[in-house]
Amino acid sequence: MEWWRGAVLYQVYPRSFQDSDGDGVGDLKGLIRRLDHIAGLGVDGLWLSPVFASPMKDFGYDVSDYCAIDPLFGTLDDFDTLVAEVHARGLKLIIDQVYAHTSDAHDWFRASRHDRTNARADWYVWADAKADGSPPNNWQSVFGGAAWTWDARRGQYYMHNFLASQPQLNVRNPEVQDALVDVTRFWLDRGVDGFRLDAINFAIHDDALTDNPPDLRPGPRTRPFDFQLHLYNQSQPEIPAFLERLRQLADTYGDRFFVAEVVGAEAEAEMHAFTQGRDRLHSAYGFNYLYARALSAELVAETVARWPGAEGEGWPCWTFSNHDTPRVASRWAAGRDPDAVARLAMLLLMTLRGNVLVYQGEELGLPQAEVPFERLVDPEAIANWPLTLGRDGARTPMPWTAEAPFGGFSDVEPWLPMDPQHLVRAVTVQQADTGSMLALTRRLIALRREWPALRLGRMTVLEATGPRLVFRRDDGEQSLICAFNLGEAALDWPAPPEGRLVTGVNGGEGRAGHLPPLAGQILDLSS
Ligand code: NOJ
Repeated sequence: MEWWRGAVLYQVYPRSFQDSDGDGVGDLKGLIRRLDHIAGLGVDGLWLSPVFASPMKDFGYDVSDYCAIDPLFGTLDDFDTLVAEVHARGLKLIIDQVYAHTSDAHDWFRASRHDRTNARADWYVWADAKADGSPPNNWQSVFGGAAWTWDARRGQYYMHNFLASQPQLNVRNPEVQDALVDVTRFWLDRGVDGFRLDAINFAIHDDALTDNPPDLRPGPRTRPFDFQLHLYNQSQPEIPAFLERLRQLADTYGDRFFVAEVVGAEAEAEMHAFTQGRDRLHSAYGFNYLYARALSAELVAETVARWPGAEGEGWPCWTFSNHDTPRVASRWAAGRDPDAVARLAMLLLMTLRGNVLVYQGEELGLPQAEVPFERLVDPEAIANWPLTLGRDGARTPMPWTAEAPFGGFSDVEPWLPMDPQHLVRAVTVQQADTGSMLALTRRLIALRREWPALRLGRMTVLEATGPRLVFRRDDGEQSLICAFNLGEAALDWPAPPEGRLVTGVNGGEGRAGHLPPLAGQILDLSS
């Protein structure tokens, strides 16, 4: 079986993991120092958010040199050491690649904006103004405002799906594809085990620059982007052919792994398109759980129904928390105990079919951090305050040592504040406590490893009504039933009498069939 199938990957947001040089920002040497924490969780590997040269306008998702490490994080030598140290611990290293856009400080864009005839003139998405000087069409950027910015030198607009400082690459252009394939090769040669492809469904736009139609469905509209159906600025049918090129290259290096980030309301279809068969990507994740304001049994049933395991179907990936959304313990708490929600969420995550991603701090049950307006740094948060994605509050530093200044993350005030609610949940506080969230996370990750039914097995929802969620995981001789109470009142469910209680959370470990509020339990039917 491929190493990545069903694997648990731990996401490191490097700015906030461990500072080693006293500048208040995490770095590669700091991460290397803390690798034993990651290995100690029992995960299969880590996904490292971008560490490449960048003006950091979008905190590394605006790359100015794909093949250089930003000095803030260290050097290429530090990166090579990281690869070796990760591998020495039996872990895999997945790096983040941002192929839909670059920074405006990238040499490719500097050349491209120079005039309309240079060698890179067609490497980005350029278009003339309309007769009245307004942008070529109605496309809006994800972070707010038009998706077009005027450039006086070319006398044209360039397109950007995110910040104006993140110009959209013209990935339709075969030369751009060649350059990106070369970047992939560069990192494969340095020994990485795989890639997370950032916002890859934004990689190709409609060549005719057709206006997007309005989205007339009811729903929250925080930004102009929310008013449109994104039929033309992204998600074009040519994307899979580009992904096939990447896969072909990676396959020449052996058992490498790609996971796509797929953003948007229609992500499911694209996740399927990007992963189907054996020539495209291995896996993809959408925002089903990441943007869910509440956890419901229907939500889980819906995602399971969309990935029935049909012939030729790809392999999904799930994540509840990351650097782009409020932390799950708070988002799903709805006035309830965030620690109990964190435990329930971890049990559910470890019982899902697919790959799973654990975001740094999720193993400690960290709630969303309070970041006062004056300390916000995320341009999205500042532009859309107070209706923001809450990314800063999900990106604050890791609390390592409760008593140390700044939680042991840095010797100086970190780039985002350390929340006192995080200090009481620091690694040192939880380390020695067998009843802690950290200990539970280790146990549940180990369980997923021990039981192929959890890691690889079929998933069948038996009940998803109201607060009650019951599903089966089957693999060969193994059969497990996982039952959850997502509500506030205790409930009993008809547990099969032959079922042996394997584990549980929030009181679900007590008696088969009985689930206190927010409890979950796993029963073994195979013995
Ligand atoms: C998705 C990344 O996760 C997010 O942090 C970033 O802002 C956008 N893509 C743009 O690259």
